[in-house]
Order: sequence, then C-alpha cells, then structure tokens
Amino acid sequence: MTKVIRADQAGITLAVEALRRGDVIGLPTETVYGLAGDLSNVAALRRIFAVKGRPHDHPLIVHIAETQQLDALAADVSDACRVLVEQCWPGPLTVIVRAAKSVSRIATGGRDTVAVRVPAHLVARAVITELGSPLAAPSANRFGRVSPTLAHHVARDLGDDVAVVLDGGPCDIGVESTIVDCTLAQPQILRPGAITHDEVRRILATAAVTLADHVTGPSRASGMLERHYAPAACLVLHEQASEVPTDGFPVLDCASDPVQAAHGLYASLRAFDDADVSTVHVLLPRAEGLGYALRDRLSKAAAAH
Ligand code: TXA
Ligand code: MG
Repeated sequence: MTKVIRADQAGITLAVEALRRGDVIGLPTETVYGLAGDLSNVAALRRIFAVKGRPHDHPLIVHIAETQQLDALAADVSDACRVLVEQCWPGPLTVIVRAAKSVSRIATGGRDTVAVRVPAHLVARAVITELGSPLAAPSANRFGRVSPTLAHHVARDLGDDVAVVLDGGPCDIGVESTIVDCTLAQPQILRPGAITHDEVRRILATAAVTLADHVTGPSRASGMLERHYAPAACLVLHEQASEVPTDGFPVLDCASDPVQAAHGLYASLRAFDDADVSTVHVLLPRAEGLGYALRDRLSKAAAAH
C-alpha cells in the first residue's frame, strides 16, 4: 500500500530520504499534487516518465524554493520574466526560459528551454530546501487523466509506483499553474491558470501579451486534440443555464463561483467517475479571469469523447 503521510517535519524528512534514493513522491502544491523527483538524478527523471506513462518529448516543470535559484537553471532571463516572477512567486506561475547547459535534457523533453516555478505551498518549498536540489514534477496523474488535488487521489492513481505521498491537504487553487513563454519577444500564455491574462498584462504594463492559439482558437480537428484532463464521464458543455436540459444527468455549475469551481473541479470529476455517471452537464464560466483556465480544462476534458 502506498504510504500517505502527514506533511509534518518527520514526513518531510522521510520524503527527502526517498528522493535521495532516487524514488519519486507525491508532493502537495497550491495548484495540484505533483509527481516529484530529484532534478539532479537521471534515474528519478526517467522514473517520472515511466510512472506517468508520459511521452519522452513532453517536458516536466522544474520546481525551486527561491526565486534566485532561477538563474542557475536559465541561460537567459528577460526583463519581463524577472518582473513577472518577482510579482508572482511563490505562486501559480510557470515561466519558460532558455535552459542552462547544466539542466538535464531528459527533464526538458530534449528542448533547450525549461519550465520553472516556485510553488506557494510551504511543504513543497520545505522539501526542495531540505533536499538541496530542484524537483522536476508534472501533475501526479497518469498521462491524459484528471489531475489530483487530494493526497488520496495520488495514492489511488499511482499506488506503489510512488514511495510516499505527502499529505498537505486539499490544493487551494485546484487547476494547474499559468504557463508563460518568456523566450519570445512578447511573453505568451501557453496555459491559462490562476494568474490571469489581465494580471500578466497589468504586471508587465503592456497589452501585447497574447494567449497561445490553442487557448483562444477554435477547437482543432478531433484527431488533433490532445487527450487531457479526461474523466470517464462524457462532459456536455453549456454557455447558458437555460440551455442545460433537465434529463436527470448531474449538472456541474462552474459559472456561479469560478474560484470555488476550480478548487473542486478535479475532485468532482473523479467523484462522477466513482459513481459511474455516464454524462455530466457543465455550465461554463464566462471567459474572464480564472474562467479561461476552467474553460480550457473543461473543453479538453469534454473533447476526450
Ligand atoms: O501547477 C502545475 O504547474 C503542476 C504542479 C505540480 O506544479 N504541474 C503541472 O505539470 O501541471 P504538467 O507536467 O502536468 O504540465 C506541464 C506543462 C506541459 O503542458 C508541458 O508541455 C509544459 O508544461 N512545458 C514544460 N516545459 C516546457 C517547455 N520547455 N516549453 C513549453 N512547454 C513546456
Ligand atoms: Mg498534467
């Protein structure tokens, strides 16, 4: 049985020992739980890909404890990137920067860029500090499935493939970090999250920050859609409450309170699957603020069918 352990000092020490052995662990962050391994340990990095069932060219996010540690990982940090991380870290922002030579190309999926963030969750930062090395950590779900926001989600999904799961309670935010590509002349949002498009534009004092096409654009042809964030239930998306049919299937309201909806989204999708619900009607939030992130995840989850 996977050990779910309290994230007190004893638990953190146990987790760090596991990481030192090259094991992977379930790590709480403020967004979703991560499947974490020591960035400096090649075997641990390979293990992350194997446990997730993730293609090798799909890069991982590197987690650090302090903003200053970015310079050891980056070959180049733009002024805009510096302003962003100073304002948003620790927090749900991941920046893509050109990678220093020392960064394992296993973690970057073979790219010369690396994704980095300082998580807000104190337990995550304590583990990184005690280990003394950054942690590579994708979300702790099998590839394509729903991300975990509770320690027991990780234990159920990954079982004995993780040494321990540190229980840091429910993730505050509930959807993955905002990813901003800072290697471009104008930063671009690759994945919307709790740090919103408006916030990024305000911090950088420019309207020139764009959302990548796959976030704003029309749905790609179904064969092109990545299977992602996918529950077993079929999600039917609705823009208006008046469109939602009363056909007996459950309704997931993401419009009334998007912050609360994000917090509970993945737990709700998992609960529908546990109850063998075949279809769920989803009332979408408006495309503003955190609503972008919710709409992004929900449209990918719905497209899986
Ligand atoms: O909130 C989060 O970001 C969570 C927690 C655990 O920190 N992590 C997370 O990781 O969502 P993951 O692996 O599920 O998603 C990482 C995303 C992928 O879509 C990947 O393509 C993108 O980050 N990514 C990583 N490195 C990249 C790079 N060099 N260039 C472009 N995209 C990159
Ligand atoms: Mg993921």
